[in-house]
Amino acid sequence: MSDPVRFLNAFAHSLGVMTLYPEGHPSREKAVDSAFEELDGLTLPGGQRPAFTFLEDEVVFGRERLRELKSWDWGKRLVAAGIERLELERRVTREEFNSFLEEVLARMMLSTVDTTEVRQMRSLGIRYGAVGLQGQDAINAIDPELDAAFASLPAAMTTLDVTLGEEAETFRWLQTEIQSGASVPLLEAEAVVRSLSVAMHGDSRMVLPLLKLKEFDQYTTTHSLNVAVLSMGLAESLGCRPKEIRAVGVAGLLHDIGKIRIPLEVLTKPGKLNDEERAIMNSHPIDGARLIMQSDQDLGMAATVAYEHHIMLNGGGYPVLHYQRECAMASRLVHVCDVYDALSTKRPYRDAWPAERTMAYLEERAGTEFDPELVATFIRTLKQGQAQVRVLSDEPQPT
Ligand SMILES: [Fe+2]
Ligand SMILES: [Fe+2]
Repeated sequence: MSDPVRFLNAFAHSLGVMTLYPEGHPSREKAVDSAFEELDGLTLPGGQRPAFTFLEDEVVFGRERLRELKSWDWGKRLVAAGIERLELERRVTREEFNSFLEEVLARMMLSTVDTTEVRQMRSLGIRYGAVGLQGQDAINAIDPELDAAFASLPAAMTTLDVTLGEEAETFRWLQTEIQSGASVPLLEAEAVVRSLSVAMHGDSRMVLPLLKLKEFDQYTTTHSLNVAVLSMGLAESLGCRPKEIRAVGVAGLLHDIGKIRIPLEVLTKPGKLNDEERAIMNSHPIDGARLIMQSDQDLGMAATVAYEHHIMLNGGGYPVLHYQRECAMASRLVHVCDVYDALSTKRPYRDAWPAERTMAYLEERAGTEFDPELVATFIRTLKQGQAQVRVLSDEPQPT
């Protein structure tokens, strides 16, 4: 059993024991002692601070999923109590740890918990609170106290050293798998999205880590990861629930999967496409939806998004709809993020557009091509610094 797993088991055990025995009872003290010892012994490579992210059905330690915790149901209970992340700022004392446990227990017993609250116990060296649930109110930091708490974070807390090399690698593998005829590996797609979500929330504020394109033939990988990140950021700003946010992330990641059928010369052609090439290019939404549907019924939303992400609000675009209908909300959302990332990236036939120009483009077409409400929220999210966009390299990072 790995150290973080041992700690989590001891942590859950002490919470259970604390509900049975009063303070000072030997059983209770013993349980807290052993959880504290496990916590104290936790180390991360490079001296990073231990940080746990609790998702509905699993736990991430640092950036790694703890697969051994399959039947551990405390993650769900912690999430329900508004505790989605637990982070150690420094080594804590046993007394501090004990107070922290009491606080967690109290929160778990509350019948109603405001899950948008970002609770910080900085004085105790332990920070915990909600991630992925920071709706606009929390992020706008209307509460001056909360704002001050963010502002007073030491510099090390506000910078996030994230590289998405592994996620890019996994997605490249996923594409080759599908290319060789395998079905869409759902678990891996979800793992990439979870990992992106953790990268977005390692900070107090939501961060949108975006990749910068290094090679043109990597365009689909870079673009897919960026669309996943932007889509999750927009869904979060709209107040969607974590599960919905992750589903939107998977849909964003897979929206262009149909492009694996397009020959590279067409995909990277510098000039204008001829009619035949255009027809090949425009078939990627239908191909993508088909690939996803054949793979997994659970990916229904991703299939819809793959099919609809080039359809405009006024019905224009492609594939041509036989009768007018409104596209799914997730498709309209991914459509905005898709165009934003495409225009912000240098392509063989044009330079990258600056952010202001891209935003103006979206605003001009809000109401005809794009859903105006989604454009407004998207631009607000980017402009107000609610989300800090970080451009990262997609080159493999030295370890
Ligand atoms: Fe597309
Ligand atoms: Fe796209």
